[in-house]
Amino acid sequence: MSLKIKPLTARFGALVGGVDIRSTIADDSIAQIRADFENHSVLVFTDQPMDDARQISWSEQFGPLERTVPSNPAAGSAFARQSNIDIKTGETIPVNDRRMLYQKANMLWHADSTFKETQSLCSILSAREVPPVGGATEFVSTRAVYDELPAALKQELEGLEVEHDLVYSRRIVGFEFTEVEAAAMPSARHRLVQTNPITGRKSVLIGAHAKCIVGWPENRSRELLDDLLAQTTSSENSYRHEWRTNDVVIWDNRSVLHRATPYDGAKYRRLMQRTTVSFVE
Ligand code: OGA
Ligand code: MN
Repeated sequence: MSLKIKPLTARFGALVGGVDIRSTIADDSIAQIRADFENHSVLVFTDQPMDDARQISWSEQFGPLERTVPSNPAAGSAFARQSNIDIKTGETIPVNDRRMLYQKANMLWHADSTFKETQSLCSILSAREVPPVGGATEFVSTRAVYDELPAALKQELEGLEVEHDLVYSRRIVGFEFTEVEAAAMPSARHRLVQTNPITGRKSVLIGAHAKCIVGWPENRSRELLDDLLAQTTSSENSYRHEWRTNDVVIWDNRSVLHRATPYDGAKYRRLMQRTTVSFVE
């Protein structure tokens, strides 16, 4: 097997060919894919028809899998289901249903699970059913942005902590958790500047769940987080993935943000299954 790596943008992202990730992969190829993941932040694989069992065994090569939060339709399993298809009936969910409002927050730039105590290393999303138009996923690099910050600002950011809160971020799109749901999801604090333990490269952990800088006044805190986000999401720093059925994309939740884009949920079906790997240092 010979892996082929083709960069997707000048700064991050790569298309990986020459490998069937559904079969048992030789250790040296896994090591190469892991290294490519650390270096490129987003890896795209095409023509990899996945079922849940295969996706789990592939994902476990990256580390332990998270269990999904109670508010996701696939709660308690290893899957976060991004879909307009009802998990029980197989019918499409009405566009104004609470479950679709919940997913609308995916359209805000975010990294997965930053609101959890244990951060995520990466997410793995497989396209099971895709609409013929719309529903692309976009990515930006919080590492490329960090590299370009002025030295004085880099110094100021070092040592800062950010509070990440799912209740806060869902509220941005008008979604309110019940008290019972909210109580099950306390916020979490993480270092703003993240250092990749393998490459030593730095990035900033921001995005929709980032509620505030710990200990800072609210307006100053908001201004810094908004400024960093604005710099990160400039168009020359982005990759847009137009999904085809059987694509599998892995992204590094420590060094990229991502967001969903709209599709016509009244007309088309979309089913994406996500596994999320924990970051254990
Ligand atoms: C996710 C996510 C975006 C999409 O799975 O974490 O944000 O386009 N998905 O479905
Ligand atoms: Mn996400």
